[in-house]
Amino acid sequence: MKIIKTTKELQTEIELIKKAGKTIGFVPTMGALHDGHKALVVRSIEENDFSVVSIFVNPTQFNNASDLEKYPRNLDSDAQMLDSVGCNLIFTPTTDEVYDVDDIRNRFDFDFGGLDTVMEGKFRPGHFNGVVQIVSKLFQLVQPNKAYFGEKDFQQLAIIHRMVEVLGFDVEIIDCPIVRQIDGLALSSRNERLTSEQRKNAAEISKVLFKSRNFVAQLSVQELTNWVINQINTVAGLEVEYFEIVDVVTLQTANSWDKPNVGCIAVFCGEVRLIDNIRYSI
Ligand code: PAF
Repeated sequence: MKIIKTTKELQTEIELIKKAGKTIGFVPTMGALHDGHKALVVRSIEENDFSVVSIFVNPTQFNNASDLEKYPRNLDSDAQMLDSVGCNLIFTPTTDEVYDVDDIRNRFDFDFGGLDTVMEGKFRPGHFNGVVQIVSKLFQLVQPNKAYFGEKDFQQLAIIHRMVEVLGFDVEIIDCPIVRQIDGLALSSRNERLTSEQRKNAAEISKVLFKSRNFVAQLSVQELTNWVINQINTVAGLEVEYFEIVDVVTLQTANSWDKPNVGCIAVFCGEVRLIDNIRYSI
């Protein structure tokens, strides 16, 4: 497995792979890899001739300097895990390598078609702008045939699908299911920052979400929304930032259970912000 830090070296590698007629699978990450990432990489390896993982803590998608600073960074253990599953290449550039000063200063110009104004977009202004900025740059560099994203970041995934359509990338986006721990907590690099008490409380988030599915036939969308928020807020140490039940395609607030919906949640567990989601259908 090669570890590459410059775009120049990456371009040379990609040219060789393309010339050899091999397919490229790509998993973009910010590192601090866990079994959720591992599942994406394993799938990429199964479905492609050559798999690339990027590890880059992208500053333009953080709207909170301390969150960026505290984001866990474990390149050595990440590389060990990726090597053990058979990843071919890690691309781990510095900020200067991928961005020039204007990239950092200016917002990336992209029409989100309203997908960025709800949920994460409302609470983390500019976040998706940074995500699209970096993922589009990485797609240009890596030129993948397939790219793998986890459904835990449901809104991000919807935006990546739109980005591919609007910017005309020739890449297939593969949606991969959320990987959970045995008690249901969705895997996240941020879980590393939870104390053991917080870790116990955090498990209640998915428990409430799963339980809420039982009430779809009895409660309206609004009633179910309120039920979830109340249940989670009664757990000591948890505070819901938002819970919204939205249409799986448009991400706009659902009024009924007629179409497939997804409930997306952000919860503060102490100062650690966790997200999760659950599908609803009747
Ligand atoms: O999901 C993430 O880890 C990041 O948002 C991504 C897609 C790697 C872009 O920085």
